Amino acid sequence: EKGGYEHFMMKEIHEQPKAILDTMNSKIKDGRIDLSDMGLSEEDIKNISQVFIVACGSAYHTGVVTQYVMEDLARIPVRVELASEFRYRRPILNKNDLVIVVSQSGETADTLAGLRLAKEQGVKTLGIVNVVGSSIAREADNVFYTLAGPEIAVATTKAYSAQLIAGYMLSIEFARVRGEITEEQYTGYITELQTIPDKIGRILEDKERIQWFAAKQANAQDIFFVGRGIDYAICLEGSLKLKEISYIHSEAYAAGELKHGTISLIEDGILVIGVLTQPELYEKTISNMVECKSRGASLMALTTVGNYSIEDTAEFTVYVPKTDEHFAASLAVVPLQLLGYYVSVARGLDVDKPRNLAKSVTVE
Ligand code: M6R
Repeated sequence: EKGGYEHFMMKEIHEQPKAILDTMNSKIKDGRIDLSDMGLSEEDIKNISQVFIVACGSAYHTGVVTQYVMEDLARIPVRVELASEFRYRRPILNKNDLVIVVSQSGETADTLAGLRLAKEQGVKTLGIVNVVGSSIAREADNVFYTLAGPEIAVATTKAYSAQLIAGYMLSIEFARVRGEITEEQYTGYITELQTIPDKIGRILEDKERIQWFAAKQANAQDIFFVGRGIDYAICLEGSLKLKEISYIHSEAYAAGELKHGTISLIEDGILVIGVLTQPELYEKTISNMVECKSRGASLMALTTVGNYSIEDTAEFTVYVPKTDEHFAASLAVVPLQLLGYYVSVARGLDVDKPRNLAKSVTVE
């Protein structure tokens, strides 16, 4: 049942190209994104005044990526909300807002409560859900199904990747309908999306390198992830993956926030992982990494093929193939999933069933 892999998590990491392809193909007709089965007319899309994305854990992290992508492409204001916060703070919703709830299981208690609250206020709701027939799938006005298939490991991987794809497709389509991108850009983005599964396959071919590095981190006490923009969103997910299955303390920091507190924790030997996929932000994040290094940190960089100058700064660099920068999270997350996985294995832990955690959190 683990398809020859030692753990479900590794099997599911390898199922990501297929999860992405299936999710994407379900909404592409004749080379164009077709959302007609989702009850959102072009008129509705034009009228959206604000998008709220409500979710927990990794699903929330995909929301953070979608926020960057959707605001940049479609120029719609997007707020991402932790469902457990959103549900208790009398959010101000207007009739032209769209509330998107994201959930693999479709049963997460706080996310479901957030959905119900939005519906009570008469706002349009859309679920991005993996489990067909789950509570959120049944109650949301419309559903964008991620076709990742059953996910067993507590640490999500393929569902996360499929949620990202759903977020990109909504962003691209909203951008087209609202006239924010040209026809050429529109088809260009779709073509680029279709290259992602193969690029993930290429990253997976090199997994032994990450295994080697991960083994050296087995006794680490703290690991920090830093990045800006979409890279910060990737850090959030990388840090959660690592801590939930390896039990090593880790934090994700927006790189520019380091000097507002966290840099006081940096001392000899602490690993800082810098994520650098956004060309406009490279230099800024590199200078934050250098500041950590001068306080004794050792540095790992996760960046795009071609950005070789980072080797002057970082001791260990992982490269992912080039893609449009909006979609970089889909590639950069994979080495971080592998890192979490291999550190957990090196520590002899129960990768698929980490202590204290449940696959689906149906109570508050
Ligand atoms: O089923 P959901 O997507 O609603 O679950 C949300 C979180 O509980 C989930 O993503 C959790 O953070 C994962 N264990 C992370 O790997």
